[in-house]
Amino acid sequence: MITRRRFVRRAAALATAAGLKLPVWEFPVPEGAVRGSAAEAGNERPLLLGADYYPDQTPEKLWEEDARMIAEAGLTNVRVAEFAWGLMEPSEGKFDFAWLKRSVEILNKRGIAVILGTPSAAPPPWLSSKYPEILLVNKDGATVSPGGRRFTCPTNRTYRRLSLGMATEMAKTFANTPGVIGWQIDNEYTLQPHARCYCKFCREGFQDWLKAKYGSLEKVNEKWGTVFWSQTYSDWRQIPVPLPSNGDPNPGLVLDYDRYQSYACASSAEEQLAMLRRECPKHFVTTNQVGAPLDTLNLREMYRNMDFVSSDNYPGFAEVFMPAPASPEVMATMIGLGHDSMRCVKGGKPFLIMEEQAGKAGQSFFAPQPHPGQLRLWAFQAVAHGAMGVNYFRWDSARFGAEEYWFGMLNHDRSKSIGFDEMVRTVKELKSLGREGLESGFVAETAVSFDHDSSWALAVQPGNSKLRYMAQLMAWYGSVASANTGTDVIHLDEDLANYKAVFAPVQYVVSEKQAENIRSYVRGGGTFVAGFRLGVKDESSQIVNAPLPGLLRDVMGVTVRDPVPVYTEKIAVKFGPQLAGADAQCALWADLLQPESATVMATYAGLYEGDAAITMNAFGQGKAVYVGADLEPVSLARVLRTVLAMSGSTAAIETPRGVEVTRRRGGEKEWLFVLNHTPQEQKVHLAGKFSAVVGNGPTNQTLTLPAYDLAVLQRA
Ligand code: GLA
Ligand code: ZN
Repeated sequence: MITRRRFVRRAAALATAAGLKLPVWEFPVPEGAVRGSAAEAGNERPLLLGADYYPDQTPEKLWEEDARMIAEAGLTNVRVAEFAWGLMEPSEGKFDFAWLKRSVEILNKRGIAVILGTPSAAPPPWLSSKYPEILLVNKDGATVSPGGRRFTCPTNRTYRRLSLGMATEMAKTFANTPGVIGWQIDNEYTLQPHARCYCKFCREGFQDWLKAKYGSLEKVNEKWGTVFWSQTYSDWRQIPVPLPSNGDPNPGLVLDYDRYQSYACASSAEEQLAMLRRECPKHFVTTNQVGAPLDTLNLREMYRNMDFVSSDNYPGFAEVFMPAPASPEVMATMIGLGHDSMRCVKGGKPFLIMEEQAGKAGQSFFAPQPHPGQLRLWAFQAVAHGAMGVNYFRWDSARFGAEEYWFGMLNHDRSKSIGFDEMVRTVKELKSLGREGLESGFVAETAVSFDHDSSWALAVQPGNSKLRYMAQLMAWYGSVASANTGTDVIHLDEDLANYKAVFAPVQYVVSEKQAENIRSYVRGGGTFVAGFRLGVKDESSQIVNAPLPGLLRDVMGVTVRDPVPVYTEKIAVKFGPQLAGADAQCALWADLLQPESATVMATYAGLYEGDAAITMNAFGQGKAVYVGADLEPVSLARVLRTVLAMSGSTAAIETPRGVEVTRRRGGEKEWLFVLNHTPQEQKVHLAGKFSAVVGNGPTNQTLTLPAYDLAVLQRA
């Protein structure tokens, strides 16, 4: 598991690697309504192009002015109250929603729709003082202090009861309030740095969860191999949580603990969801999250019964923590991976950017103002990757609190920020795509696996101390996405049939179900491309009882003769004619491959002369490629792009580095998004005739995009 900060640090070291229409939620739209306006559906279903707004932090005398300005800026909605527990329940059981009602009324009068946040991410001091048992215990066994946010245990019944009680009062109060259209449950369950709780309530919750999962202690003991170090459990209550214990914990226990913590968050959200379904049947329900590069939760579990996914997007945050300036294509790739990962949580259904960077961003220190054009570019990039709406974070800038330096659309003195006009323009342009454009499907010919089990299992046993799942995912995703074929970020037990090629970096854990799914995908004609450390472990985090790559040996047509971590003594890789290119060096890992039925595409030199480094196997109608060597990004990109071309993918569009192209499709219509993430003018060759929906169209099949500019095109 990684933190946002650790991830971006690492990502800098990573190199510059290179239609279906789905209903969102149903509301009747009155005839003749102005498209995209809040009035369109009697205030029920505007396009979601708005801002995060804090009446709780703003003197009431300014609320009218805020509402007027928000409406004048063309915004259609706000999200409010997700941190206002203290004002809504000033003491236990005493609720006060009058102020929020007044605020919603003022907003509604201006036609601004409201998404309400349930405030469980920040319980007030009366609560944490009276019930200190709700506090999270971190991985060192220390109880975290209240005073920040997300300092709570996800299992604790008191915390969950009070959170649900609070949310229920809120839901009853606002179920029929004009202007309220939906709910955000809690706020960023993925938030770091304490993504796991190790308290006694979690320990008991874990034990109960294990009981439900395994049924018997014999099974737990067997699946974890507890005979090692005398860990055999004879009572459920003996099972510990992975706190420091002078020796690494059992890998099976840790993997199950990660799953349990993910489940605890999801089930806590689910309690609020069930209540909201009952109390507010007319409203949509979602929760906001940070997607990849965070891996702390299984988001498919979290969003299973919600209406759509929401995510928070702060591209500038990367720049704050990068030790060296990130190249535009690395930045674009990082953000793109986040969007693609969130879109695919609900099978490609359009998602919402609940928070989008509006200016300088940071807490103790802050990133520079996004360059002119980037606030527009980043919002369009989200939409290009499947978002249906964008809320800028935040409307104003707080003059107090930990986020004084997170700049909103207004400055601290309430003047318009330097990016204000650009955001207003962006919202107007996004509206011009209409509901059909914003809620269309995303076109993807390729997929990359993002597997929590592998990520979590590898985190406790990386093999090479420098090996990180997320860095590998980034490098592979970057290589594939730069072909502009559209890339889904999937789980390997999902339907793969529609992809020309599926890529799986360090798929360390492979379940039988996944192996079977991959087998039938390749048999049916798909191209499966796996990285080193494939199929080392089963779902219990035990090492497979077969030569590697374990369950996938027949599909890959190879055996791993030996898995080798690489430190100072580098191993050279020589490419065969299919991959032609300069020799490369393994960075962190070398799986020494012995082909059984596969052909060799690259070999090791020197110490491991004679072992294959990359192989390709014909299996059924398809192909399976094993990349056994950890290649530096330029070579990796070349290899993956060559294999992609062999897979029969036709969608690739060549673009200069830092320029990306995506497609969305709905019915007969297709929108082509072309985004220039670089500070220079770029030219893109586009075969065929296009007209521009946003920005300028191509002349003589060449689209010229100034720095940070973009175009949305349709075939003429
Ligand atoms: C997060 C949170 C917000 C706010 C912003 C800016 O994503 O959801 O409450 O803290 O980031 O830091
Ligand atoms: Zn706990």
